[in-house]
Amino acid sequence: MNSSKDYYDSIAQDYSAISAKRKPFLDQVNALIVANSPKRLDYADIGAGDGARSHVIAQGLQARTCTLIDESAELLDKVPSDLKTAIIQGSITELDLDDRFDVVTCLWNVLGHLPDLEQRDEAVRRIARSVRPGGLAFVDVNNRYNIQEYGLENVMRNVEADARMRDGRGWYPIAQSNSETKVYIHGPFELDPILERSGFEIVRRFHVDYLNGELHLEFWKGQVLYMLGKRN
Ligand SMILES: C[S@@+](CC[C@H](N)C(=O)[O-])C[C@H]1O[C@@H](n2cnc3c(N)ncnc32)[C@H](O)[C@@H]1O
Repeated sequence: MNSSKDYYDSIAQDYSAISAKRKPFLDQVNALIVANSPKRLDYADIGAGDGARSHVIAQGLQARTCTLIDESAELLDKVPSDLKTAIIQGSITELDLDDRFDVVTCLWNVLGHLPDLEQRDEAVRRIARSVRPGGLAFVDVNNRYNIQEYGLENVMRNVEADARMRDGRGWYPIAQSNSETKVYIHGPFELDPILERSGFEIVRRFHVDYLNGELHLEFWKGQVLYMLGKRN
């Protein structure tokens, strides 16, 4: 089992092909962010990967500045050269930025790669610190009660594991090529208290279908995208 950093470094060559398989979902999330954000301001993408989505979002926002952060050097090497960016290689849990941003994103279950609740808490606190008062953040996590994606039987198993507080609940292996890591899939409301105690207000919650990108009202039909306001 690889660390998240080793995993993403080793699959960097294939990352755009892997992303292409989730295009409808990723496009929908990008579009929601652009439609719900102010324009021509300072933007940061935390856990930006290869920067392909940051590029699309920065263009949609007509961002004045764009800052990308990720711990995988191999993925950051792939950031499009025409994207005028500041690039920072490092972990969110150690992020100590001088700058503050109007719009911050942390997308495609980046938080699920952190090894425990304490580090997720720390990461969310640092993300919140990077947002200007009155600014917005968008964070999405995969949802282990997403029946549409994982099927009723698996979700019932997850519900039971949660009810019994079973060790290791929420953790799943993922693999590409010859590389494997594990990822945490959140409960649909699990992140709410972490976000709120970090200084965020949950402005809206979207449930985005993982297969076709459709928006759903029901939490068991999609992954969870949070639109967050930074409290003053
Ligand atoms: C599924 S990818 C998503 C990348 C990008 N946001 C996207 O939507 O294409 C998860 C990303 O989280 C990054 N990541 C995982 N743990 C991290 C950490 N502690 N600090 C910074 N980035 C991290 C990985 O390197 C990887 O780029």
